[in-house]
Amino acid sequence: MSRSAHPAGPRHADVLPEGHYSAPPADLNALDPKVWARTVGRDGDGVLNVGGIPVTRLAEEFGTPAYVLDEADFRARARSWRDAFGADADVFYAGKAFLSRAVVRWLDEEGLNLDVCSGTELATALSAGMPPERIAFHGNNKSEAEIRRAVEAGVGRIVLDSFQEIVRVAHIAESLGKRQPVQIRITVGVEAHTHEFIATAHEDQKFGIPLAGGQAAEAVRRALRLDGLELIGIHSHIGSQIFDMSGFEVAAHRVVGLLREIRDEHGVELPEIDLGGGLGIAYTSDDDPREPHEIAKALTEIVTRECEAARLRTPRISVEPGRAIVGPTAFTLYEVGTVKPLEGLRTYVSVDGGMSDNIRTALYDAEYTVALVSRTSDAAPMLVRVVGKHCESGDIVVKDAFLPADLAPGDLIAVPATGAYCRSMASNYNHALRPPVVAVADGAARVIVRRETEEDLLRLDVG
Ligand code: LLP
Repeated sequence: MSRSAHPAGPRHADVLPEGHYSAPPADLNALDPKVWARTVGRDGDGVLNVGGIPVTRLAEEFGTPAYVLDEADFRARARSWRDAFGADADVFYAGKAFLSRAVVRWLDEEGLNLDVCSGTELATALSAGMPPERIAFHGNNKSEAEIRRAVEAGVGRIVLDSFQEIVRVAHIAESLGKRQPVQIRITVGVEAHTHEFIATAHEDQKFGIPLAGGQAAEAVRRALRLDGLELIGIHSHIGSQIFDMSGFEVAAHRVVGLLREIRDEHGVELPEIDLGGGLGIAYTSDDDPREPHEIAKALTEIVTRECEAARLRTPRISVEPGRAIVGPTAFTLYEVGTVKPLEGLRTYVSVDGGMSDNIRTALYDAEYTVALVSRTSDAAPMLVRVVGKHCESGDIVVKDAFLPADLAPGDLIAVPATGAYCRSMASNYNHALRPPVVAVADGAARVIVRRETEEDLLRLDVG
């Protein structure tokens, strides 16, 4: 369909329905560096480039939808976290945000450690050559087989999540003649300012052992008694997409309080504390995330101050950012299929993916932005809702945004900041084939996770 054949005319920004969008941006062609990967820009023709490659070429070569990941940006962000925390702290990239063997190798090369939370994430890490001693193994219900695999591999730490798991890991380690380094994950009673489902340090939830009522202290008592365990520290993760450091401040205060109790009761000063991940990124221009060096400074100061007050040696700090490293480095490239103006409401723009490649909007009411990337346009802004092609009305990718009113089928649009928890939470709903992850760097593009094929799906369906 040609642009001029647009059926009922666009919905212009002059009459806007209710919604929580801000006013249309002054320049629809501008790309806010806060939400886009660092090597993104427009070339002379207005086509968005990333890693030196125009998205039109990426779409031609790899198809759409596709996740496009800026390798230089990923490495730079990983490095800035490592440099910010320095040699006296450890940065564990949280693999749940997005894990692939290429990513594991980049992390290894950039000197980061890795947090995995399933046996298959562990297998991915090991198969890409991550040294096991730089892997932390998480999870609230690790199977015996997973624990055995982790202990046999020699992972640097297992993060214990329940009383039963303390015994389970100890038995397995002993049966293998090993003493497994472990941390105990506690919940400190902090509810971080985030979506209810991703806040994790309040007590009424499945992760961790509550500090309240002396339960965490009891867990420590039991762990210290078991020969198969070497208790190296305490772990706390307070939630996700957090901008305000005050939650970490309270968490650090309470974790250090427990370290002091442990010293007083057992005469042992645990050498490490892990403050988890959860640092926020910009999904839209309204978000203002902190830089890694500010976060490192704030966390180190808090822990040092608390330890001085408790007369404890400052433990080695570790953190587990996932989203803050990979989130901003990728965008999802879609082709526009249908443009449907709904009189008096908004225009629905349907793309060739949807909730199967980004469930976050449906699940968390997450906000995203979108841009026309195969060209620029001087047309007026129109209020759009970007939706997928799935059989569900909640199949929304971007709830409210503005795109140029001459948007037409065949145009490429991109949703930035989809590097974290989009591919890793992708599904085969409606037998959608999960999109590839294409890494770009220095004018070259390569597939690091290939697109699923019909054969992949049918192979699982054994009749
Ligand atoms: N460490 C632990 C123990 C965690 O549970 C998590 C995330 C992280 C680190 C990494 O958090 P990050 O820095 O990436 O926020 N699917 C949700 C997020 C769930 C996060 C679960 N745990 C989302 O799409 O927002």
